[in-house]
Amino acid sequence: MDRIRIVGGNKLTGSIPISGAKNAALPLMIASLLTEETLTLDNVPHLADVEQLIRILGNHGVDYSVNGRREEQNTAYARTIHFTAHDIVDTMAPYELVSKMRASFWVIGPLLARMGEAKVSLPGGCAIGTRPVDLFIDGLQALGAAIDVENGYVLAKAKRLRGNRYVFPKVSVGATHVMMMAASLAEGETVLENAAREPEVVNLAECLNAMGAKVYGAGSSTITIEGVDRLHGARVTVIPDRIETGTYAMAIAMTGGDVMLEGARADLLQSALDVIAQTGAEITPTNSGIRVMRNGAGITPVDVTTEPFPGFPTDLQAQFMGLMTMAKGRSRITETIFENRFMHVQELARLGAHINLAGQTAIVEGVTKLKGAPVMATDLRASVSLVIAGLAAEGETIVNRVYHLDRGFERLEQKLSGCGATIERISG
Ligand code: UD1
Repeated sequence: MDRIRIVGGNKLTGSIPISGAKNAALPLMIASLLTEETLTLDNVPHLADVEQLIRILGNHGVDYSVNGRREEQNTAYARTIHFTAHDIVDTMAPYELVSKMRASFWVIGPLLARMGEAKVSLPGGCAIGTRPVDLFIDGLQALGAAIDVENGYVLAKAKRLRGNRYVFPKVSVGATHVMMMAASLAEGETVLENAAREPEVVNLAECLNAMGAKVYGAGSSTITIEGVDRLHGARVTVIPDRIETGTYAMAIAMTGGDVMLEGARADLLQSALDVIAQTGAEITPTNSGIRVMRNGAGITPVDVTTEPFPGFPTDLQAQFMGLMTMAKGRSRITETIFENRFMHVQELARLGAHINLAGQTAIVEGVTKLKGAPVMATDLRASVSLVIAGLAAEGETIVNRVYHLDRGFERLEQKLSGCGATIERISG
C-alpha cells in the first residue's frame, strides 16, 4: 500500500493549479443518465472517485471517452470526458459498487426519472457518521415514487414522477442534487425549499439547464424546476475545487510562504478565506486565481463552526484543525454537519498537537512545534489535514492509507513538491 513521506519545515512558494471539483464532477457525471445523447464535461479531475463512478455508470450502460490533455509538470491535468447513456441496460446499482462511494447512491434520481424504476444499494463511503438516506426517500416519495427498502436495497418505482412542493427537513447537498435531477423529467412544477446552496448545486443546475431542463433559483434555498419531457446532450465545465483551494491555502497559512492558487475562485469559499485571513495569512484574489501569503507573523487562533454553504465547510474542518495546532493560543472548532468527523484528532496528537474534545467541539491549544511521526487516517479530508500538519512539523511524517487522498486530491505530492515541499509517494 502506498504511503506519503513528508519532511516538514519548508515554506511553500510558487504556484499550484487547482483541479476541477470532485464534488461537482460526480453529480454532473450522474446527470448523463438523464439523456440518451452525449454529455461532455470539461475540467474533470483525475481522481479515484471519478474512475470509480465511471465504472458504476458503465454498469448502467453509460459509454465514455476521454480527451486527455496532459500538460507540463506543474499545470492542471484537466480532462474532457464524453458520457453517453444511449440505452440504460440496468437500473440496479449493487452493493459492491455503491458501498465504495456514497455519491453513487445518487443514480437513484435519474434512473427513476428516466426509466420509471431503480434499485440502489444503501451506501457506504467515508466513515464520518451514519449518513442516512431518509431525505432522498422522503423527497422522491413527494414526487410520487413508491419506495420500499428491502435487504439493503432501496427500490423506487414511478410511471412518471409528478412535480410537487418539498421542504427539506435538513439541508443536504446530495438530496438536493437528486431532487433536481428527478424533478427535471417530472410532470409539472417542483419547488424545493431549504435546498442546499453549495456551488456544486449551482454547477449541476447549469448542467441540467444546458441539457434542456428548466431549473431556477439554484444557489438560493428555494429551487423551482419545471419538468420537461426529455433532456438532450450538452457541454459543461466542472467548477474549480473549493475544498482543494482551501486546503492548499491552509497549508500555506501554516508553513508560511507565497503561492498562487491558479484557477481558484474566491467566491466559492469566501467564508473559509475570511477565516484564513484572520489567522494572519494574506489572501489576494486576482484574475488568474488566489494568491496566499504568510510571512513573519505567527498564526492567530480563530474559532470556527461548520455550516452548510455559504458557511465554513465541513470538508475543510480537519485541515483547519491542522492549522490551529500551531496557533498562538486556544481555538474552538465545532462540527455541526457530521456527528463523527473528529477522527483526525488522535492522529494530530501523534504529531504533538494538544486537542481536547467536548462533544461536537474540539478545543485546540496551539503548540510552538509539531514533530513528525507515522500517522494514518480514516477519511479523505482527515488524511489531508495530516499532510498539512506534516508539512509544518519538524522531521519526517509518514501518512499511511494514501488511497483516501487519491479519492479527492489530484497529484497532491507533485503540486506540493512543485512549491518546495519535501514530499514523495513511497509505493508498495
Ligand atoms: C456532500 C459532499 C461531502 C460534504 C457534504 C456536506 C459530495 C460527493 N460529498 O456529501 O464532501 O462533506 O456534502 O457539505 O458532494 N443527511 C440525512 N439524511 C439524508 C441525507 C443526509 O440525515 O438522507 C444528513 C447527513 O448525515 C449529514 C447532513 O445531512 O449530517 C448533510 O449531508 P449531505 O449534505 O447530504 O452530504 P452529502 O451530500 O452526502
